[in-house]
Amino acid sequence: MATLRLGDIAPDFEQESSAGKIRFHEFLGDSWGVLFSHPADFTPVCTTELGYTAKLADEFAKRGVKVIAVSVDGNESHKEWIADINDTQKTTVNFPILADEDRKVSELYDMIHPNASTTVTVRSVFIIDPAKKVRLTITYPASTGRNFNEILRVIDSLQLTDSHSVATPVNWEDGQDVIIVPSLKDPELIKQKFPKGYTEVRPYLRITPQPNK
Ligand code: BEZ
Repeated sequence: MATLRLGDIAPDFEQESSAGKIRFHEFLGDSWGVLFSHPADFTPVCTTELGYTAKLADEFAKRGVKVIAVSVDGNESHKEWIADINDTQKTTVNFPILADEDRKVSELYDMIHPNASTTVTVRSVFIIDPAKKVRLTITYPASTGRNFNEILRVIDSLQLTDSHSVATPVNWEDGQDVIIVPSLKDPELIKQKFPKGYTEVRPYLRITPQPNK
């Protein structure tokens, strides 16, 4: 599989998981999705990542996002590992972990980078929108745990772009000012969409309060 690019349709698949057989597109339904891979079960960094992700369940639900993890180990191993994650991270893993023993999903999503490891996946993340389009890809090395608050931040930004024609500036956090997308030029439409007004720092840099706050 060639590397997935932003805007590509996230490939569909059918695979076993800790929550039974998953048909990916059917699983996503009309939701947003976060698909993320782990080098292997019973590895320390992954244990903290999955525990933290489980704790964010309400945050993902609030944004209409379904979360699903990938690991190249099987379901027997997943079952024991989930018990360990729940115990050590003081949480309840509440999303499926794909049992990708045949590496169907890992290969489909190019999650095995042979020059890093020929056997296990790197830390890939895909954010997928309700049209099944890939909206973000990131790849972290096995030894670095990801920042799942950043994943939520990107989802907030993407959803704002889709709903309100705004982009988000450097280090933006929910509630802060945003940027009117440069493609929006019609002054009447701008007035209508941004009743709180905006500051034109430059014709291409127009700052407005976050419209949904
Ligand atoms: C891990 O927890 O997955 C991990 C930790 C150190 C090096 C590589 C991977």
